[in-house]
Amino acid sequence: MTAAPAVTSPLRLEGISKRFGAVTAIQRFDLEVAPGEIVALVGDNGAGKSTLVKIISGVYQPTEGEIWLSGERAEFSDPSDARDKGVEVVYQDLALVDLQPVYMNLFLGRELTRGPLKVLDRARMARETQALVDDLDIRIPSAKAQLSDLSGGQRQGIAIARATHWASGLVLMDEPTAALGVAETAKVEETILRLKERGAAVLIVSHNMEQVFRIADRVTVLRRGTQVGTRAVADTTHNELVAMITGLAS
Ligand SMILES: Nc1ncnc2c1ncn2[C@@H]1O[C@H](COP(=O)(O)OP(=O)(O)OP(=O)(O)O)[C@@H](O)[C@H]1O
Ligand SMILES: [Mg+2]
Repeated sequence: MTAAPAVTSPLRLEGISKRFGAVTAIQRFDLEVAPGEIVALVGDNGAGKSTLVKIISGVYQPTEGEIWLSGERAEFSDPSDARDKGVEVVYQDLALVDLQPVYMNLFLGRELTRGPLKVLDRARMARETQALVDDLDIRIPSAKAQLSDLSGGQRQGIAIARATHWASGLVLMDEPTAALGVAETAKVEETILRLKERGAAVLIVSHNMEQVFRIADRVTVLRRGTQVGTRAVADTTHNELVAMITGLAS
């Protein structure tokens, strides 16, 4: 007798493949990410990590395979379709607007309005933004501060807050700390751990092995588009992961 799964995974990938002409970028990739779980996706340059994130976020359609979100089959026509279905992505290069306040960045493209004339409801957006950044312990001067006045770490914190606010349980991150210094990276990692506490499923691409060991529960390795293995972080070592990434025995 097999027990029914206790929870439906926010993300399940089954046999995902992607070919660009003659190039096979991803070959039969499988993964399930549970609520409150952080899974790291690692691999060398060109291994297919970003391609996979782009498939889950509707930038590319898979050549083969299925995406399931919270138990429902998902097919995305484009990134805004994926966003509408609750998939949010945080990138290394921030998709934020410098000359706007923090709260406008949080509601970018989804601004709250009031009245028949649809006037921007700035007060409400600022209030909701402040509550969210407080909840995630992202320290910024104010939700009304201009984005360009924030540090790189604070800005990435805002990008993560935005993704969290709009995601329905799944947040994808493609090297979210690659452009940050040590202290800023630590702060962003704290924010990522907050998402986990709140029950979000997080799939994070990282080149930083120490980061993987600091924050991830499991790690899955891609080598030239092939998924060479998945490990619980507690059951693997730096050396084993490097051997899997490079294909050289440790
Ligand atoms: N739009 C595309 N057209 C053709 N080939 C592509 C396209 N996008 C990605 N590729 C190829 O797919 C492979 C995987 O690329 P991808 O960007 O996913 O790697 P990555 O693991 O994110 O690498 P990095 O660590 O450098 O960011 C590469 O060989 C790349 O050249
Ligand atoms: Mg990449």
